[in-house]
Amino acid sequence: MEVIKRVGEMQEVSLNLKRLEKSIGLVPTMGCLHRGHLSLIEAARRENDIVIMSNFVNPLQFGPKEDLATYPRDPDRDNRLAESAGVNYVFAPSSGEMYPEKYNTYVEVEGPMVEKMCGKSRPGHFSGVTTVVLKLFLITQPDRAYFGQKDAQQAIIVRKMVTDLNVPIKIVTCPIVRDADGLALSSRNIYLSPKERKQALALPKALSAGKDMILKGETDPQSVRQLIIEVLESSPGIRIDYVEVVNGDNLEELQTIKGKVLLAAAIYVGKTRLIDNIDLEV
Ligand code: PAF
Repeated sequence: MEVIKRVGEMQEVSLNLKRLEKSIGLVPTMGCLHRGHLSLIEAARRENDIVIMSNFVNPLQFGPKEDLATYPRDPDRDNRLAESAGVNYVFAPSSGEMYPEKYNTYVEVEGPMVEKMCGKSRPGHFSGVTTVVLKLFLITQPDRAYFGQKDAQQAIIVRKMVTDLNVPIKIVTCPIVRDADGLALSSRNIYLSPKERKQALALPKALSAGKDMILKGETDPQSVRQLIIEVLESSPGIRIDYVEVVNGDNLEELQTIKGKVLLAAAIYVGKTRLIDNIDLEV
């Protein structure tokens, strides 16, 4: 496995691989790898000749009061895990390499899709994501790019960008990976104290309660949303950021539960913000 830090070098390697007709799978990450990332690498390995993993904590997608400075970073551990998972190249640029002085170009998907849920609580976040993702696509030239379903809104917005800008890359979304107790894996779980970690379990529990309600025949999205809110409100130590029951393809409001449905929520446990979701076809 090779670790590449320079944009020019990564682009040259990727363009050469394309000339050799190798298919490339990109797994974009911000490092601090867990089993969720490893499942993306596994999928990329199955479907491509070459796997490139990017490891870049993208400052553009953090708000001024967010955790950019404290975001967990352990590049040596990441490289070891990436290598044993079968990654061929790690692209790990510095911030200055990605955004040199006078950098001034941004990619923005507009509309309700980016204004609700995480977009409402984290203004500018998705413009930071789409900007870096398009840059990573142009630098690494993938045929396919792999995103986790845990960031469902991110995956939907990236798909929209790719459709709107005619980017010839297939976006693959891989299922959420959970710990045995149900908590979705996230790099931010590292911030939780043992007590908070237990309190955080209210999130998967509340979403599962919503799913069960649907499976029992409930068709009113507001009743399902209300149940999720009630379960969260009755759980100690957490604060709700948002709860939504929306169309799982485009995040639009639902009049009735039918088709692809996404139950999504964000909560604060102490200072840590966690997101989770369940998607289902009704
Ligand atoms: O999901 C993430 O880790 C990040 O948002 C991504 C896609 C790597 C862009 O920085």
